[in-house]
Amino acid sequence: MAMRNINAEINPIRFHIGNIPVFGDLVLAPMAGYSDSPNRLLARRFGSALSYTEFVNAIDIVQDINRVSQRLAFQPEERPVVFQIFDNDPTRIVRAAEIILPLQPDILDINLGCSARSVSNRGAGAGLLRRPELIDVIFKALVRISPIPVTAKIRLGWDEVSLNYLEISKILEGAGASMIAVHGRTKRQAYSGASNWQAIAEIKQAMRIPVIGNGDVRTLADIEKMKAVTGCDGVMIGRGSFGNPWIFSRREHESISFEETRKVMLDHLELMTSFYGIDRGPILFRKHLKAYLSPYKLPKGTITHLVTTPTYKSLKDMLVVLVSLNT
Ligand SMILES: Cc1cc2nc3c(=O)[nH]c(=O)nc-3n(C[C@H](O)[C@H](O)[C@H](O)COP(=O)(O)O)c2cc1C
Repeated sequence: MAMRNINAEINPIRFHIGNIPVFGDLVLAPMAGYSDSPNRLLARRFGSALSYTEFVNAIDIVQDINRVSQRLAFQPEERPVVFQIFDNDPTRIVRAAEIILPLQPDILDINLGCSARSVSNRGAGAGLLRRPELIDVIFKALVRISPIPVTAKIRLGWDEVSLNYLEISKILEGAGASMIAVHGRTKRQAYSGASNWQAIAEIKQAMRIPVIGNGDVRTLADIEKMKAVTGCDGVMIGRGSFGNPWIFSRREHESISFEETRKVMLDHLELMTSFYGIDRGPILFRKHLKAYLSPYKLPKGTITHLVTTPTYKSLKDMLVVLVSLNT
């Protein structure tokens, strides 16, 4: 498939996912409400090597509901694009894959890690970690029908007494998965405690396919430590990228001036406004705005003003003249 990859100009090939070369070793994590096309584009411009969509429910795909086409929309510049889907029903997941493959993603990923009760308690996301045999069925079926690599994003197990990450990883590799991304927590932990990088190292050692490590990477030092501890092929960054796309360029957040932040905020607002429209874009941008401004001292009430200002124009006008007290 023809692929223009702006990372190819700045990053060497670090590894392959099936036949897909991955330029760079840092990856924006799939995140519902965050890894939309505007944020992925921005992260790519800073060096994120893969563009994962937010997870999409196979039921939504099959029924064509809940803005599926918007959540799977992407720009050519984002390639390689990873469509992430979730479900617990092998037949429906294969049907969903057949529906979305014509949209020409580069990689198809199955979420085996979502800890939200609405997902995991029905046996999808991290719920599938309790059904290794079903994971085998799902992956074998997907690999059979998919012309593109199929990958998985997993957690370490359901809880601390059922840590089955090595078993799951071996099943995935045996079923033909081309890469595994690992968030080093259990479903029970959700986001508490710490990501267990030692467990990611065990998976990496046991696998021939590439492994991407994930969990609690917030600084450049964390990136290097994760790589050293786990030996992983890539590092996936979620919350540490909020308000900080510079992490994908390996630039320390502390070194970024307010002027640079202003420029990126305005670019991000533009990207969101052109993607979601002039009414919805600025509203959805508010969470990013708060994250961008969190390192800075601002006059009292300024953030409240910014996140309640009603129009795109008023928000943009305020950002253009915004002054930080600590620049
Ligand atoms: C707001 C939010 C939404 C998320 N949505 C997804 C998702 O759609 N698919 C997925 O695989 N993981 C999702 N995750 C988990 C992240 O991809 C990642 O595994 C987790 O945040 C740990 O990495 P971090 O410490 O770098 O944030 C989400 C996390 C957050 C904070």
